[in-house]
Amino acid sequence: MKKILAFGLASLLIFTSCKPAKNDTETKIDALLSRMTLEEKIGQMNQSSSYGSIEDMRMMIKKGEVGSILNEIDPDRINALQHVAVEESRLGIPLLIARDVIHGFKTIFPIPLGQAATFDPFVVEKSARIAAIEASSVGIRWTFAPMIDIARDPRWGRIAEGCGEDPYLTSVMGAAMVKGFQGDSMNLPTSIAACAKHFVGYGAVEGGRDYNSTFIPEHLLRNVYLPPFEAAVKAGVATFMTSFNDNNGVPSTGNSFILKEVLRKEWHFDGFVVSDWNSVGEMVNHGFAADYKDAARIAANAGVDMEMVSATYMKYLPELVKEGKVKEAVINDAVRNILRIKYRLGLFDHPYVDVNRKSIMYTQEHLECAKRISEESVILLKDDKHVLPLKSSVHTIAIVGPMADAPYEQMGTWAFDGDSAHTVTPLEAIREVYGNQVKVLYEPGLAYSRDKNLQGIVKAVTVASQADVILAFVGEEAILSGEAHCLADLNLQGAQSQLIAALAKTGKPVVTIVMAGRPLTIGKEVDESAAVLYSFHPGTMGGPAIADLLFGKAVPSGKTPVTFPKMVGQIPIYYAHHRIGRPATRNETLIDRIPLYAGQTSLGCTSFYMDAGFDPLFPFGYGLSYTTFKFSNIKLSATQLKKGDMLTVTFDLKNTGSYGGTEVAQLYVQDKVGSVTRPVKELKRFKRVNLLPGEKKTVVFELPVSELAFYNMNEEKMVEPGDFGLWVADDSQNGKELPFKVKF
Ligand code: NOJ
Repeated sequence: MKKILAFGLASLLIFTSCKPAKNDTETKIDALLSRMTLEEKIGQMNQSSSYGSIEDMRMMIKKGEVGSILNEIDPDRINALQHVAVEESRLGIPLLIARDVIHGFKTIFPIPLGQAATFDPFVVEKSARIAAIEASSVGIRWTFAPMIDIARDPRWGRIAEGCGEDPYLTSVMGAAMVKGFQGDSMNLPTSIAACAKHFVGYGAVEGGRDYNSTFIPEHLLRNVYLPPFEAAVKAGVATFMTSFNDNNGVPSTGNSFILKEVLRKEWHFDGFVVSDWNSVGEMVNHGFAADYKDAARIAANAGVDMEMVSATYMKYLPELVKEGKVKEAVINDAVRNILRIKYRLGLFDHPYVDVNRKSIMYTQEHLECAKRISEESVILLKDDKHVLPLKSSVHTIAIVGPMADAPYEQMGTWAFDGDSAHTVTPLEAIREVYGNQVKVLYEPGLAYSRDKNLQGIVKAVTVASQADVILAFVGEEAILSGEAHCLADLNLQGAQSQLIAALAKTGKPVVTIVMAGRPLTIGKEVDESAAVLYSFHPGTMGGPAIADLLFGKAVPSGKTPVTFPKMVGQIPIYYAHHRIGRPATRNETLIDRIPLYAGQTSLGCTSFYMDAGFDPLFPFGYGLSYTTFKFSNIKLSATQLKKGDMLTVTFDLKNTGSYGGTEVAQLYVQDKVGSVTRPVKELKRFKRVNLLPGEKKTVVFELPVSELAFYNMNEEKMVEPGDFGLWVADDSQNGKELPFKVKF
């Protein structure tokens, strides 16, 4: 008996000492949770949009019926709300104040698609840091960013909000944004919690129509759509947001596979998950929930910790718990996740914002960073005749087009809080900085991008005819991209195409500068222009950035983060498409050359469009410079590799032109044979390299063999031994293939 007792005691001791010790935060969470009523717990799971006066919201907060408030940006009101939560509610749990700070709060940086075009995670992180500093100064401690949905369809307006089509580029940029928003520690008063959204697959909505269905098989989900989210978890992202779409029939807000199996079990995420706006309630519209009560049950059980706006949790979770349809353990877990982030943000210790703090909006440092990232984001698509940078022989320039002086439009989508009075347009910047160097004529021709009135074009042509070079600023107003702003036609809106055609007819060189929220089908305008710069809405400092690029004080270095289609009908079109049985040869006969009565199989049976061919207008990773670069001496550390090895790729990059410039070196890999078909190329590494004229640098990429792994049909992530191809190049279509093998 004594023996048994001793054994029992020993094992108890062993058991207790093996149990991981709870850290301070977890102990505090447990203590707080044990004092909460079911209603107070459910209150933490409720997010409300700010409304009315403080008095209007007082009762809800006082009763502990809300854990987070979104869309409040007035620091006095935020403090007033927080005072109610901390001092008047029973448990004094602070509110988490949220806002969509997507690409800047006051200082607006380029839209995320433009940020991705920089291929520069350093400057992307810095801009997110600045956004956090500005937003936190009014009391915002949570942003709904980064948006890391892979988007391969520019009809989808939300392509503007993400980092484009590539999982690796999006992973790197998303992680940089998370680090920028959250800072070195979330506890800092200048840090804001980030939110990886939209989980998951939203970018693949059918036909590019927002809120639509997706059909993504699991191995594609894991190889393409999930990696940026996993990277965000690794970067320490605090929260996740579910997406509006249903994938394979299951709305994300009710998808326990992605929320529990993948996010919690596989990735060990310990932050919290919020639904998107009303997306719990919308499961009724999906026909996935019978009514709002059913929707609340499904979402809570699937792992949605906080409900944004639809308030079905508040209304139905108490009875669902009583009925045993949602276990109290589910509620406890959700509340734990939410409180954990509130503790990490230091909200319990410092709930209020210092309203006497000196304003840190639009500071010199912030504007300089905004200019730098705008500059790096602009892509030179064409400059055949070297019209750019503008030469000293140019004495008169004509500035034309609806985007030349459109301060609000150049901020792009989701610039809620940016003040267009602070935006500097290209017209303003050129006049101010280069006005003493060149004579500047200005005639917009069209009032706004959708303007169809042709009369102004006549005037613009008359003015433009007097200039040495015409700068035509066209594109999209901010409202034409972003959430719910999808398009079936991606040609320039309004009469902008006619404007470019008329300007080209003057015989003067036309430099077209496009400012838009997505890649547009501008093949015709590219042909008519001597040079083309593409700027995804560049934000507050877009004007000075573009001015310096035009006049050669800065040199373009942006690269396309998405493939530009020639025609809408080519969509979806992306560089990392899978290998197929009958690939295009690029020798196909196109429609105008098909002879009359050609035989059924005379064109060759390959995968191409008779009218658009096979190639895009511009491939992924493409972008020119005023200088030229040469890649040489590309060497692999080994051509036979084993599991666990590191492949080191070394090459020389030389600036062979006469301007200092930056090249984005890109490393692509192709897995030759797989147990499932593999992409023709996949981006694995990239690096911005600055080079003076004539300068040569040796550049090194390191790629662990483990990063050649992919998910097979059994959803196992593996490196499959065999042959691989490797390219080091300036875009996804160039370069010479180098072979290597992986053997186990
Ligand atoms: C809906 C959007 O889909 C999401 O991205 C955004 O963060 C929320 N509304 C909150 O505004």
